[in-house]
Amino acid sequence: MQLKVVHMEEGKDPIAASRVGGQTRVLPQRLLHLLVLFLVLCFSFSIVSIYMIRYFGVNSVVTSWKPIVVPCNHEQATTLDQWIEPPSNLMHKMSDEELLWRATFVPRVNKYPFERVPKIAFMFLTKGPLPLAPIWERFFKGNDGLYSIYIHSLPTFEADFPPGSVFYKRQIPSQVSEWGRMSMCDAERRLLANALLDISNERFVLLSESCIPLYNFTTIYNYVIGSKYSFMGVFDDPGPYGRGRYNGNMLPEVNISDWRKGSQWFEVNRKLAIYIVEDTKFYPKFSEFCRPACYVDEHYFPTMLTIQASSLLANRSLTWVDWSRGGAHPATFGGSDITEEFLKRLYEGHSCLYNGQPSSICHVFARKFSPSALQALFLLAPKFLGF
Ligand SMILES: *[C@@H]1O[C@H](CO)[C@@H](O)[C@H](O)[C@H]1NC(C)=O
Ligand SMILES: *[C@@H]1O[C@H](CO)[C@@H](O)[C@H](O)[C@H]1NC(C)=O
Ligand SMILES: *[C@@H]1O[C@H](CO)[C@@H](O)[C@H](O)[C@H]1NC(C)=O
Repeated sequence: MQLKVVHMEEGKDPIAASRVGGQTRVLPQRLLHLLVLFLVLCFSFSIVSIYMIRYFGVNSVVTSWKPIVVPCNHEQATTLDQWIEPPSNLMHKMSDEELLWRATFVPRVNKYPFERVPKIAFMFLTKGPLPLAPIWERFFKGNDGLYSIYIHSLPTFEADFPPGSVFYKRQIPSQVSEWGRMSMCDAERRLLANALLDISNERFVLLSESCIPLYNFTTIYNYVIGSKYSFMGVFDDPGPYGRGRYNGNMLPEVNISDWRKGSQWFEVNRKLAIYIVEDTKFYPKFSEFCRPACYVDEHYFPTMLTIQASSLLANRSLTWVDWSRGGAHPATFGGSDITEEFLKRLYEGHSCLYNGQPSSICHVFARKFSPSALQALFLLAPKFLGF
């Protein structure tokens, strides 16, 4: 007893120390047990896992995760619909790089395993509003399933088409584009790429806010869909505004003998649309060596497609425009210009080749019309435009 007490009293600190020491000695032992137990568990788990993987394959381990991730995609993943149905929301969040890449997916089997009704993609390249929208609304009416609409406007512009409009929610993610600059071609490629996401779009028409259709939908649809060639106005202009804009640094990709000029307002089929969207060969050359006074939107696609697919080009534009007044811009027509006599000029006295045969219908769209022309056009539409 005494010894114990003395021992305890004498060495308060040592006892305390030994207690603490005792605890520290006891704890590692418990920890050690726990650690060993843990290691054994880990080891057995590893063994079990390895056997599981050996006997059931890695998949069984992955499969156990699937139900957590898959359900919301389940419906899409099991049918062809996700590849046939056009995107429900045009305002996607893809960057241009992602979009162009996605748009160049091409089926390698020619026959479609579903009933595909070819559509015309009407691509409106605009600054903001569409003042001639009422004419287009009337034009498209009753032709659902044969067309789709895409609008590229200034990114700051907020469209307010009502839900019943054919233009409702047809805006695509847009960026600022300047006339005569590569940003204009970028906008056109963006329109094409978005339109390519709909597998049923077969022909792609570029239009501006000052364009009007010259015939009813059926006539234009048949004319465009039935054409063996794409309507890109392409010509070799030997003068200063044609070959004069060529830059020898574009060799070897672009030889001056390939250099073409053309109207910006094109129509291309799906194959050519993909050529344009996938291009990485000519783009850098035009981007670097065709800057004002070389207006790249007049040369890039006409030259590129002449090199890649000249036999598919009609070399003429579908869009009538009046350059007769001279100057850098074509004539714009307002309300007072829209007379019966003027409209006759649009329809009469034309001749061209359509699928190799002479035709009197050479243009099915026309520009440029100012907002003030709307009322007069609307009144004359049933008689002249045929709708
Ligand atoms: C479209 O125009 C053509 C030629 O003018 C005419 O024959 C046809 O009936 C019109 N179609 C419709 C749906 O209005
Ligand atoms: C450009 O094309 C012409 C005619 O096709 C050819 O004679 C000429 O050698 C080419 N120039 C270059 C630099 O390849
Ligand atoms: C268009 O012009 C190219 C030459 O640039 C030519 O090969 C092609 O046959 C022309 N297309 C038509 C339909 O005449």
